[in-house]
Amino acid sequence: MSTAPFPDRARIDAFDKVRGATEYAADIQFPGLLHAMTVTARIAKGTMTELSTDAAMRVPGVVRVLTPDDFPPPPPTGGEDGPPPPPPTLEKRIAYRGQPVAVVVAETLEAAIAGAEAVRPNFADEQFSCRIDSAGAESESTEDWTAGDAAEAMAGAATAIEATYESPTQHHNPIELLATTAVWADGRLTIHECSQGVNVTKGSVAGALHLDPALIDVKSAYIGGGFGQKGLAQRQTALVAHAAMLTGRPVKLVLPRGQIFHVATYRPNSRHRIQLGADATGKMVAARYHAEHEQSRTGFFSPAEYHESPIRMYGIENYLGTAANIRIDRQAPGYMRAPHPQASCFAFESAVDELAYKLDRDPVAFRIENDTKVDPKTGHPLSSRLLNECLTEGARRFGWSRRSAAPGSMTASDGTQIGWGVAAGCYPSMMPPAIATLRIGANGSTRFATSGHEMGQGIRTAIAAVLLEGLDINADKLDIVIGDTTAAPQHMTAGSWGTAGAVPVAAKAVERMRAAVSELLAGRTVAGNLHRQLATVRRPYIEIEVSQVGAGQNDDALAQLREGGFVVAGPEYPEFTTMSYIAHFVEVHIELHTRRIRMPRVVSIADCGRVISPRTAASQVRGGVVWAFSAALREATEIDRRYGGYLNNDLADYVVAVNADIGEIEVGFVDQPDPLANSMGLKGLGEVAMVGASPAIANAIFHATGKRMRELPIRIEHLL
Ligand code: MOS
Repeated sequence: MSTAPFPDRARIDAFDKVRGATEYAADIQFPGLLHAMTVTARIAKGTMTELSTDAAMRVPGVVRVLTPDDFPPPPPTGGEDGPPPPPPTLEKRIAYRGQPVAVVVAETLEAAIAGAEAVRPNFADEQFSCRIDSAGAESESTEDWTAGDAAEAMAGAATAIEATYESPTQHHNPIELLATTAVWADGRLTIHECSQGVNVTKGSVAGALHLDPALIDVKSAYIGGGFGQKGLAQRQTALVAHAAMLTGRPVKLVLPRGQIFHVATYRPNSRHRIQLGADATGKMVAARYHAEHEQSRTGFFSPAEYHESPIRMYGIENYLGTAANIRIDRQAPGYMRAPHPQASCFAFESAVDELAYKLDRDPVAFRIENDTKVDPKTGHPLSSRLLNECLTEGARRFGWSRRSAAPGSMTASDGTQIGWGVAAGCYPSMMPPAIATLRIGANGSTRFATSGHEMGQGIRTAIAAVLLEGLDINADKLDIVIGDTTAAPQHMTAGSWGTAGAVPVAAKAVERMRAAVSELLAGRTVAGNLHRQLATVRRPYIEIEVSQVGAGQNDDALAQLREGGFVVAGPEYPEFTTMSYIAHFVEVHIELHTRRIRMPRVVSIADCGRVISPRTAASQVRGGVVWAFSAALREATEIDRRYGGYLNNDLADYVVAVNADIGEIEVGFVDQPDPLANSMGLKGLGEVAMVGASPAIANAIFHATGKRMRELPIRIEHLL
């Protein structure tokens, strides 16, 4: 395949989406469908002492009430190296407020809700700790990230800064709520669910209900926003599956948003204490960084990963990263878009900015001079690090050279304070193995089945770009089957590895198909596209299967993929490390009297290797910048210290960015293939898009006002 830039193409699912034809998990209709609603714990910690189902069963239309007694005991866990255990089903022991304790199944949604409201369990409550600073919170250290000797280098630094930064609890709020429909028929369980990991869903339901995974199929053709929350198993899935098995009818549950806040994973509140030192020439030589975050009593989302990106941003040879979980009585936090670097690069890129000012250096030039080609953690080369290209191009497009350096020195005629800020981000570029089949038919159709999930990021469009570029086939009869355990072995799609999992294998399929066609034609020239050619030579179809593994992986990875294992490669490959990079340039306006913060203009330039789908790639970056704005200036989940729950658990009170908040976002790409990461030279994009934009906003606010904002979200009251 040529290495020319890919042409801009519209999303292949755009037309269906805008006319409402796209079928999401909750849209699928089944005859005899029952509706479910969960009953939740109203204490933060303790035991459910009594649960009567009588009142609920008297509600007309209620078919059954599932209680903890209906479920098997939790399966044994897989040990240290095994996959995380499935979420528990229903239990009498209460670990957090909002934990599901019963499920009401009814003929209508209304009856299910009325039934759930009629269940009034009794609880014996206990003392609980619901905040990072509550009495009874337990700190637990995780493994360190080290390079060189940070203590010695820090002691010898000519210039240093030390500061603590904080990022709040934040919750995912995709428009699509968590939805599961389970169908139990002929000894098979079919689950339709919005899942970024249909195989994870399958394995967890099998584990929770003690079923043979071979009897379970999971389908997730489209997701209305995942952002990491839909990557790991949801607690509701096994509940709905069990309800379908017990009633013998299809059962659907769409979890209300207020319950999602309480039961699903979220971005934890985190604190970041950073010391950063430079030598006499202004080179950053030492970083000491301690990160800690709120964590459930048993959760595994590791705070050590806050170091994964900062350590690889610049060539700081001496780095000591320490981290701790602060264990409290809440549900487990987890992956949420740019899971760790959103918070850690807010902290780190704010610290870099503080150091640049202390050194009296331009923040762009300072970053450019701290270039590196080496991963300090492993000593291996970075396969491509084009952050300086991002910074240079971003500065050019933004007009950075016209910036007046002193804080508070750019003011509009009406007194509005103007600030220009910059920050960078990086994110691991990973790659799962993949197995795909491609079938081209004489009847004009093409079917490509592979691992992957479409959550709106445009994975089908990226796959189509490669297939349509390399094969003369009908674009309108191209069926890309993903997110389906019956179609191909499935790997979780998260962490920005979707394209790396789906696109190189598609390119390989193109190559193999071309070879298969030329073998079939054996030198004959046949007119028409591939479908016509097959028809002419009377061949109903050609089907090929291809597979790929990541650098350093072998056939074992394919075997594990077939068995449902989690086998993503990178960012530390055997001989190199691969990260994606981005630079964000932000202009903020701060009204003189109201102190309202506006962001009229952003320029973001990304290094994601080769760009496969220009339109959806740019859309990912815009989305990331919008969310970073929201994370920096709007979003915070308020925790109720009295009861241990969340106070603002709906879209009226949990404030997210809206259209009126967002000005112009100009997006650009370096678009140079990574030479080592994979055959297509592509690197992940979705997650890195968000990284660094929040600190760019905070740095711009400092430039506008001279006030350093070390805690998110930044609000009007912080600027009074
Ligand atoms: Mo990613 S954490 O699946 O947005």
